[in-house]
Amino acid sequence: MKSKNILLSLVAGAAFCACATQPAVKEEPSLKTVLGDKFLIGVSLNTRQSSGRDTASLNIVKRHFNSVVAENCMKCEVIHPEEDRYDFRQADEFVKFGEENGMFIIGHCLIWHSQLAPWFCVDKEGKEVSPEVLKQRMKEHISTIVTRYKGRVKGWDVVNEAILEDGSFRQSKFYEILGEEFIPLAFQFAHEADPEAELYYNDYNMSSEGKRNTVVRLVNEMKSKGLRVDAVGMQGHMGMDYPDMEQFEQSILAYASTGARVMITEWDMSALPTVNRTANISDTLAYRKALNPYPESLPDSVSEHWNARMEAYMNLFIKHADVISRVTAWGISDSDSWKNGFPIKGRKDYPLLFDRDYQPKPFVKELLEKK
Ligand code: XIL
Repeated sequence: MKSKNILLSLVAGAAFCACATQPAVKEEPSLKTVLGDKFLIGVSLNTRQSSGRDTASLNIVKRHFNSVVAENCMKCEVIHPEEDRYDFRQADEFVKFGEENGMFIIGHCLIWHSQLAPWFCVDKEGKEVSPEVLKQRMKEHISTIVTRYKGRVKGWDVVNEAILEDGSFRQSKFYEILGEEFIPLAFQFAHEADPEAELYYNDYNMSSEGKRNTVVRLVNEMKSKGLRVDAVGMQGHMGMDYPDMEQFEQSILAYASTGARVMITEWDMSALPTVNRTANISDTLAYRKALNPYPESLPDSVSEHWNARMEAYMNLFIKHADVISRVTAWGISDSDSWKNGFPIKGRKDYPLLFDRDYQPKPFVKELLEKK
């Protein structure tokens, strides 16, 4: 009995000493601690994540990221499916998640030709509406959504994908009915609804020269009219053989020359054979086995190449951290990625920073170990 008491007091004493002298618990390295002094590090969330159901992914989000963007739930077809009906359920959940976790919240996206509710540009007979009606609809749509999240959503992708690679305007309904004017109008309406919110123009293949020139002109023109344009979003959907890094860097510098910041808004890199370079979601192709070469796992040689390219791009973003204010990955782990279904359905891709077991990819691990 006595010896047991002595033992207990020895254990207690040792525990006390350990507490008294124990150094502060070492924080687990995270992307936001490694990169936080350079730019925001963000990720897109699907609804299983923003509703709290996908806990494995949420552990990664909370540990590594300080900004979130909605992958789908703020798009017109979801949030405003009929002219006189909004559905804010998923968007409300997303914004609440972002606030509760101290995230810089991004709204994606206000005016876009894809995932647009079918009613938006036509009348009851299916005929194109007049310019006046479309302006009014845009204003109502933008003001309602931006006002609802005023002060909570800190930045908006106001217009998404309006310019083509050759620098011409996409022949979307918005362009056909209103011409170029739909772009500055969208920025004006968003700014009127929340003067504090940051406003962005966002697009894919932003390193192509034609698109670069038109976007630079557009941003300069809007700024000279006194409109607020905070950043140009380079989506950053990449492959193993595109984009060309020099052209990408030239674009970063060109967009920054307008005085706006640059954001890498939808970063992923397909490890599969490139079948097209667009991220226009209607540009799809039929499945062929040869185009899905790694249905089990990624061979080491491909993984090494992928990691080297991703590391090189991350280093490029760090090099230009004076003008890049956010880098956002388009999904958390490989199993979430839209690239498993685009541009070909049913492939197994490996495009994100975390693998299917929620482990950081080698280049991310190295980054984390640097701190
Ligand atoms: C994608 C989503 O990831 C998919 O879940 C959805 O089915 C289609 O849209 N450019 C954009 C994003 O701006 O909104 C797109 O997201 C990918 C391309």
